[in-house]
Amino acid sequence: MDYFAHPTAVIDQPCVIGPGTKIWHFAHICAGAKIGARCGFGQNTMVAGDAVVGDNVKVQNNVAIYGGTTLENDVFLGPSCVLTNVTNPRSQVNRHSLYERTLIRRGATLGANSTIVCGVTLGRYCFIAAGTVVTKDVPDYALMVGVPARQQGWMSRHGHRLAPGPDGTLRCPESGFRYELTPSGGLRCLDIDEETPLPPELAVGKKVYDEFKPA
Ligand SMILES: CC(C)(COP(=O)(O)OP(=O)(O)OC[C@H]1O[C@@H](n2cnc3c(N)ncnc32)[C@H](O)[C@@H]1OP(=O)(O)O)[C@@H](O)C(=O)NCCC(=O)NCCS
Repeated sequence: MDYFAHPTAVIDQPCVIGPGTKIWHFAHICAGAKIGARCGFGQNTMVAGDAVVGDNVKVQNNVAIYGGTTLENDVFLGPSCVLTNVTNPRSQVNRHSLYERTLIRRGATLGANSTIVCGVTLGRYCFIAAGTVVTKDVPDYALMVGVPARQQGWMSRHGHRLAPGPDGTLRCPESGFRYELTPSGGLRCLDIDEETPLPPELAVGKKVYDEFKPA
């Protein structure tokens, strides 16, 4: 066993858990779950049998990852955020074979207490603000806020709001990476491919969020 599980965690077999993953107090991993390497599962988390979790996924306390959910690498699930898998649940109607798919793409962040109504795709590095309720697909890098979620702008891969500079590009104040709007109205990074991991020197924060805000 090359992962860590606290003695109070329940790990049902068979399941796949990658090396370096840490599973903390009172977590429950169901049989059939597939979990990648270097993930963290906080207190009172649950992973269902047909959920798929990539590498380096961080799951804060009190989060249930239900069947039908796929989390790509580097996803962050904030404390007590809520995923769902049936749009119209009724206790009298068994829909166990009808779970709706939710895909959370690489590097996405879900803020504390946000809710994702099932059947949507959350784009790469999108940022869902605390308490937001998402009901539709979300573009890469979009900052989504409120109930229901509305796009308030763009967040960089390092989690900073992006505004266009004089040359039309948007620059992250932390990494210096440049971004540009695409003809289809999306955003892409000019300096690092969305599927490439961050270099180690850019993977440790040195200043808090407000210190990067424009005066
Ligand atoms: C989205 C977020 C990054 C915005 O931070 P920010 O850039 O500092 O935004 P500000 O505080 O300057 O707020 C700007 C406006 O958005 C509003 N706002 C900010 N966060 C909001 C939220 N989660 N929901 C609704 N409105 C929000 C503010 O009230 C403010 O409104 P106003 O202009 O009418 O006064 C931050 O509020 C957030 O939700 N972070 C997630 C934190 C989290 O869940 N962490 C989990 C791990 S501990």
